[in-house]
Amino acid sequence: MIQFQNVSKIYEGDVQAINNVSFNVDNGEVVILIGPSGCGKTTLLRMVNQLESITDGEIRLHGNNVKELNKIEMRRNIGYVIQSNGLFPNMTIEKNVMIVPDLLGWDRKKQRDRFHYLMELIGLHPDDYRTRYPHELSGGQQQRIGVARALAADPPVMLMDEPFGALDPIIRNRLQEEFLQIQREVKKTILFVSHDIDEAVKMGDKITLLRKGEVMQFDRPTEILNHPKNAFVSEFVGQDRVLKSMSLYSIKDLSQAISLKQKVESNDTKTIKEDTSLRIAISILLNQEADQIIVLDDAGNNLGSLTLDLIEQFLHKEVKRTEIK
Ligand SMILES: Nc1ncnc2c1ncn2[C@@H]1O[C@H](COP(=O)(O)OP(=O)(O)O)[C@@H](O)[C@H]1O
Ligand SMILES: [Mg+2]
Repeated sequence: MIQFQNVSKIYEGDVQAINNVSFNVDNGEVVILIGPSGCGKTTLLRMVNQLESITDGEIRLHGNNVKELNKIEMRRNIGYVIQSNGLFPNMTIEKNVMIVPDLLGWDRKKQRDRFHYLMELIGLHPDDYRTRYPHELSGGQQQRIGVARALAADPPVMLMDEPFGALDPIIRNRLQEEFLQIQREVKKTILFVSHDIDEAVKMGDKITLLRKGEVMQFDRPTEILNHPKNAFVSEFVGQDRVLKSMSLYSIKDLSQAISLKQKVESNDTKTIKEDTSLRIAISILLNQEADQIIVLDDAGNNLGSLTLDLIEQFLHKEVKRTEIK
């Protein structure tokens, strides 16, 4: 767990970059740190692994004040991924990925096995990349290697500073999906910087929204979208926040809350899998000009039909439910 307790940072020249920030990143959770450029995201991240000093307040890592931890040792226990992936150009991919295990004195066999595991995890074939150099890889592949390197020594905590920020939207989307899949397997405690609300909503268990070094809201994505605490938050998440919140719910969530319409048996009705997001479902319903769509489970069983009316009912119900809390 990472705990921020009334943390402030004043840079030389009286620049207040962080002002009295408090929130926690629980074990196994992804918290997205988001806000406009210059709001202090990178500063806050770098205070965790002591690349920046803390002016006031405390940051605790698994209960220990980071100021009292050995810097070198602590950094080995925290995976750190940055936007310009920071790979060493003159080292092979395997050397790059294995820097920390190498420093830790892992034997050859253990390193090989770990390299294999990590490359499979990030979806690159180990033997195809082992002896290649960073410049021979695409931007997306380099970012994947950056993630593998940060995971190499299996650190419980990861700090990620806009890791997919420099990539084009299609590649970024793919890496986000992969990241979520990996996280389900490795369950790290992650503080992830982003400036993109769509990315934050998709990736975060919780979101910390910063403005000029202050926390505007710290909440689950559905709360940020459905119940922005102030005008800044609602402005930041944007006008289409209802649409965004739909990408957080699947058809299955809907069918567990309210029942689908009676099954129709018709050959020309479209079908959709129940794990599809409501956002996709609604765009299909609108674009196909179909008034209903048949929902299938994994085995292809017909579960009933989905309509725009049902989606609207569900959203109303969901907004009410979160309002009560
Ligand atoms: N080394 C530094 N010295 C002085 N001011 C800095 C330094 N680094 C960042 N800042 C200032 O601190 C504020 C927060 O910067 P930063 O954490 O990089 O924001 P973000 O990552 O959200 O874009 C900005 O006003 C920035 O100009
Ligand atoms: Mg930054």
